[in-house]
Amino acid sequence: MPKDVIIACDFSSEDETMNFLEKFGDERPYVKIGMELFYGTGPDMVRKLKARGHSVFLDLKLHDIPNTVGRAMAVISTLGVDMCNVHAAGAKAMMSAAAAEAKGLVIGVTQLTSTSEKVMREEILIEKPLKETVIQYALNCKEAGLKGVVCSPLEAEEVHRACGYDFLTVTPGIRLEGDAKGDQKRVTTPAMARELGSDYIVVGRSITAAADPLAAYERCRKEFLG
Ligand code: C5P
Repeated sequence: MPKDVIIACDFSSEDETMNFLEKFGDERPYVKIGMELFYGTGPDMVRKLKARGHSVFLDLKLHDIPNTVGRAMAVISTLGVDMCNVHAAGAKAMMSAAAAEAKGLVIGVTQLTSTSEKVMREEILIEKPLKETVIQYALNCKEAGLKGVVCSPLEAEEVHRACGYDFLTVTPGIRLEGDAKGDQKRVTTPAMARELGSDYIVVGRSITAAADPLAAYERCRKEFLG
């Protein structure tokens, strides 16, 4: 099973992103392009990072009617991204439409790692325990033909037990020991994520906001990959 550290490049411009990546010398870390960077720079940023030798996770979290998502995914496929995602809350027909058009790995976002059970209950009106929702969403993803889910490392083992160990768990909500949680609610360290069986960890601020991003990245790799 591939295991890697994916850096969330949550920047708003190409300059900022390239200045950041230059700190990594000849290394070509797996990068995640989220909404901020994609809306700030457009699809050319994906092509540039691919041409530079990076694997790219395009994190746009599609969530719309099946026809719209399928057609958007067909366009995303032309960019050559290695991984992209949809919201599992969009349900199986939407996810199947995405899977049918995708070339790289498509995974489903279960519950955002910034969402607590209290918010689920009081604002989204989901009465079930958070873990149960995550597992049901993961099963829906698998049935729809997706290759894995975005979830918390705290849910990785149960997702694997329910969906199989070749079903990917891509886990944000990672903090190096001592870093601020920020808006994340369910956080773990890279070492804990390894113990809990995550396949990929997604790390943003613990690397991007570090005084020495390369050292922080190396520390994440060492803790996560051993
Ligand atoms: O800075 P931090 O490590 O919290 O960044 C986490 C990244 O993972 C962000 O880019 C965020 O959009 C993304 N993400 C997340 N929770 C999810 C899905 C994606 O935090 N469920």
